[in-house]
Amino acid sequence: MMYSRIIGTGRYLPEKVLSNRDLEKMVETSDQWIRERTGIERRHIAADGETTCDLCEHAARNAMEAAGVTPDDIDMIIVGTTTPDQIFPNVGCLLQERLGNRGVPAIGLEAACSGFIYGMSVADKFIRTGAAKRVLVVGAETLSRFIDWTDRSTCVLFGDGAGAVILEASDEPGIISTHIHADGSYKDLLYFPSGVSKGFNDLKSGKDFVQMKGNEVFRVAVTTLGRIARETLEANNMSGDEIDWLIPHQANLRIIEATAKKLKMPMERVILTVQDHGNTSSASVPMALDVAVRDGRIQRGQTILLEAFGGGFTWGSALIRY
Ligand code: COA
Repeated sequence: MMYSRIIGTGRYLPEKVLSNRDLEKMVETSDQWIRERTGIERRHIAADGETTCDLCEHAARNAMEAAGVTPDDIDMIIVGTTTPDQIFPNVGCLLQERLGNRGVPAIGLEAACSGFIYGMSVADKFIRTGAAKRVLVVGAETLSRFIDWTDRSTCVLFGDGAGAVILEASDEPGIISTHIHADGSYKDLLYFPSGVSKGFNDLKSGKDFVQMKGNEVFRVAVTTLGRIARETLEANNMSGDEIDWLIPHQANLRIIEATAKKLKMPMERVILTVQDHGNTSSASVPMALDVAVRDGRIQRGQTILLEAFGGGFTWGSALIRY
């Protein structure tokens, strides 16, 4: 039996930091409101001209260095993103050109905040079937580009960043299981309203920004994340106390606390990074994973539950023996 295993992690945050105090000067909000409702303290914003692919490259090289591999060792690239540099070539192709491993398949995968978990699931299937040996999976976003910086109900929530892992074929897990889902009937709760086929709105109309019904998203996110955690544990005949670390999508501290409570997991066993970068969509889970690997909390042999939820709605999980 073939499995896939994480052999290296990496991340990158753009240099520019936008604090809650900075936002107080831009919209009618307060540091206290943002902390209490979301847990977010700051977010990073890509510089002018800095693209999603730039962020990907930093995170990917960081992960390859940790894994002790070079681009020539990678035989597949998957980039989860909802903010690609351009419509095509997909960001995977742009990243491949930077890395120089010509010829390997390069996939851009759009599943909003679940893009990285979806990417891990796809990579795992390719490795398990023997179709790939070493896959670079990246989650990266420049969400700051499509946020309405005059709308206090959304602009305080999001930020830019990238996280990456290298998955390698292994005789032992590794990834124990992945579970991915979607329900398009929720398409009107969290979305970007325009595109190539539908047509772009006039930017000045105020409609070409992320649109969200925050309260409703919150409610569905809590229920759904609790359900995917249960599904994952049941599929593996495990209970919550066998999980060493929960790495949830870093969107909102209150959603994370509610999910942990459903799993009966104390917050000491939850990796929390939302305070440092806000909701970075598909980048959030791999960045949190990398933080905890590098600061030594996550150790080889431990069991980790990753989970994400995002626009679509899409959601998913990965159970990993690190
Ligand atoms: N600063 C100050 N006040 C704000 C504010 C801000 N940044 N944003 C909204 N408010 C105000 C609202 O206008 C409202 O005022 P009103 O009562 O006078 O009308 C009040 O705060 C409460 O708004 P509400 O939307 O009910 O707050 P909430 O407790 O639901 O928190 C979110 C709002 C967005 C933080 C919360 O709904 C949330 O996190 N939702 C999930 C979002 C998410 O994670 N999306 C991505 C999923 S992948």
